[in-house]
Amino acid sequence: MKLNERKPRIAVFISGGGSNLQSIIDATKCGILSAQVALVVSSKKKAYGLQRAANENIETLVFKHKKYSSPEEAGEALLKELRAREIDYIALAGYLSLLPASVVRAYCNRIANIHNALLPKYGGKGMYGHYVHEAVLAAGDTESGPSVHIVDEIYDNGLVLAQTRVPVLPDDTPDTLAERVLEQEHKLYPRVLQKLIKGEYDLD
Ligand code: GRF
Repeated sequence: MKLNERKPRIAVFISGGGSNLQSIIDATKCGILSAQVALVVSSKKKAYGLQRAANENIETLVFKHKKYSSPEEAGEALLKELRAREIDYIALAGYLSLLPASVVRAYCNRIANIHNALLPKYGGKGMYGHYVHEAVLAAGDTESGPSVHIVDEIYDNGLVLAQTRVPVLPDDTPDTLAERVLEQEHKLYPRVLQKLIKGEYDLD
């Protein structure tokens, strides 16, 4: 990269602990991801991920859709914040709200999400966190693992960019399975973001 070339600016959206946020930040430091985390947006004021961002001197924004009278208004307000910071890409990482349609349209093919199961299985509204792992165990699946996909206007629906498979073990609990999947999430997501930014996926 040339000295004066600007690195793509990513906004990471969170609602919780932010371990994926941390893996993305770490990847920008060691060259796995040539981008800058320029903003962390949280739907919750108390999300620990906000502390992680503060520790790294990354700007944060708590954005509550409910503050606005319509999804359109929320979308306009959010877009304004993103544009003011010249955000190029959005990475959803444990973000529990649905992005307003205007944001999805404005960032078409430039928004990714990580999900903790092998989509298209175990996705959709209400399928997050431990609910996903409980469903995998209840179904008796022998494998699970994270998926990274392009975000469209429906939960967990867009094109799957990459997945990692891990075994489901006979004595797994939702917690032990979550741990195995999360370890792979941290490896997968930064690498997929790098490929997305480099234009290495055929998104047509
Ligand atoms: C991850 O399991 C991710 O796949 C899902 O939400 C969880 C977020 O975890 N979408 P963290 O906040 O990144 O630790």
